[in-house]
Amino acid sequence: MKLKSVLIALSAAACVTSTAWAQAPIVIKFSHVVATDTPKGQAAERFKQLAEKATNGRVKIEVYPNSQLYKDKEEMEALQLGAVQMLAPSLAKFGPLGVKEFEVFDLPYIFPNKTALYNVTEGPIGKGLLKKLEGKGITGLAYWDNGFKIMSANKPLRVPADFKGLKMRIQSSKVLDAQMRALGANPQVLAFSEVYQALQTGVVDGTENPPSNMYTQKMHEVQKNLTVSNHGYLGYAVIVNKKFWDGLPADIRTALEGAMKEATTYEKAIAQRDNDMALDAIKKAGKTQVYNLSAQEQAEWRKVLMPVQKQMEDRIGKDLITAINKETSK
Ligand code: LMR
Repeated sequence: MKLKSVLIALSAAACVTSTAWAQAPIVIKFSHVVATDTPKGQAAERFKQLAEKATNGRVKIEVYPNSQLYKDKEEMEALQLGAVQMLAPSLAKFGPLGVKEFEVFDLPYIFPNKTALYNVTEGPIGKGLLKKLEGKGITGLAYWDNGFKIMSANKPLRVPADFKGLKMRIQSSKVLDAQMRALGANPQVLAFSEVYQALQTGVVDGTENPPSNMYTQKMHEVQKNLTVSNHGYLGYAVIVNKKFWDGLPADIRTALEGAMKEATTYEKAIAQRDNDMALDAIKKAGKTQVYNLSAQEQAEWRKVLMPVQKQMEDRIGKDLITAINKETSK
């Protein structure tokens, strides 16, 4: 009799649990620092749709764009503490975490084009870099793209000498610090959410970013000059708290991996188009002078900036730089 009553009690408990469980989805907080109307912002929304559909609502993705929840430095700490479960930080923001190798993506002219870049991020080099995050309690799921950066200031930026003495905002990357110093500028690390106001008030004189970030943050309204330099790359790693991710039911994790794969394909398909549209919109707004470098001027920029690759070998690793240069010259 006793065994029967125990079995009845257990099955009742299981039923309650499963009912309770069916009502309480697993919540994934996805925090990022850019506007929704950017490649990363759109991809985060697409991932939400795909993930909730693929898990039949057993997972709920809460997207917090535009630094609403956390800004640059805070977001990585929040992820490691488990206060948020997913981020997609710029690859330039992993140095402070102790994974300096990611700053290889910041090296001027390291990627001749997107195809070469994708060969790195989707191949063994990219996978090896994501693996390095695991020691920090982070699992890397994918690379998202936001294209090549342009420069802005309140004076024409045509030759390297034009940067002399300018306070230029950068992301928290020693490579970007070296890049700006090579141009004769004074680099200033600021959170992305603080850039517009810093430009407006003159705390900094200029900055760099892809057009989609410049336009959606209205930076073109407080910068008189913009140079389409494409001197460096800006991409993202989509990352999750490792403990949280490993603790998910296997079928849920598989469904989320599939949703992330599809969202990544979508993100890469819109990145270039969105940046081209943003640059056109900046030109149409008519508030900033958009300048394209001549071949001669491009050669002058390369001459000044290429030595940064050698200068940063000790920090990033000579072998990694050599491997990427070999991969991208195929
Ligand atoms: C920046 O801080 O300039 C960028 O990383 C913002 C972003 O995430 O695209």
